[in-house]
Amino acid sequence: MNQTVNAEERAPIGHIAFIMDGNGRWAKQRGMPREYGHRFGVKAFQRILEHCRDLGVQTVTVYAFSTENWKRPKKEVDAIMKLMDQYLTECEKKIERYNFRICFLGSKAAFDDKRRTRMEKLEKQTAGRLQTLNIALNYGGRDEIVHACNRLIAQGVREVTEESFASALYTAKSEDPDLIIRTGGDLRISNFLLWQAAYAELYFTDVLWPDFGPAELDAAIEDFYKRKRRYGGV
Ligand code: IPE
Ligand code: IPE
Ligand code: MG
Repeated sequence: MNQTVNAEERAPIGHIAFIMDGNGRWAKQRGMPREYGHRFGVKAFQRILEHCRDLGVQTVTVYAFSTENWKRPKKEVDAIMKLMDQYLTECEKKIERYNFRICFLGSKAAFDDKRRTRMEKLEKQTAGRLQTLNIALNYGGRDEIVHACNRLIAQGVREVTEESFASALYTAKSEDPDLIIRTGGDLRISNFLLWQAAYAELYFTDVLWPDFGPAELDAAIEDFYKRKRRYGGV
């Protein structure tokens, strides 16, 4: 075994979250409708998920559709939901071989019974898998915080702690993200993981999501390992 000390120090990153942005611009650059970009966005997501599986990343979270994205033209929203349904079908087909425990983040109340049932079934069927994939769909950080408050009120809770509050969030089953990557060049959070991002390392790249591949992820991880996380200490 010829492992360097450096490699031994590098435990896999626990939780990487992705703001998968830039599909629309990627399509526009090619003179194609935005939906075309979303289609290639799904392919990029699948490549990245496989790479995260191989790297042993414990939790992968992807921002697929925000609570604000409903404002987009119906044609685009419908296309995104169709891609989501196709992904559900693909997961169902290879359920035995699927490596990740799937959790959906966001209220499922926005979806019809059929889609909701499929989502819940996939969550149940994959519950025992070792790595986790959180799919943020109809997700907003503010919605999540308000939803958690209402959940606690409904339970008759009179006093909350940071721990009890965190366990009322959609991400109750996940650790906080270590690294949040946003593609597409914008330097903002766009209502993603507002509570959980408290001490996440942020990484922004101009690369548009459909072009974000394993090499780009490796570069982001390389950058992550150079950082010193102080959590307010010295
Ligand atoms: C991100 O890409 C995917 C979703 C928000 C669903 P965009 O669709 O926001 O692409 P740009 O930012 O307009 O290029
Ligand atoms: C964030 O991207 C949401 C997702 C990637 C799903 P947006 O394109 O919606 O964010 P803004 O509008 O640029 O802030
Ligand atoms: Mg965008």
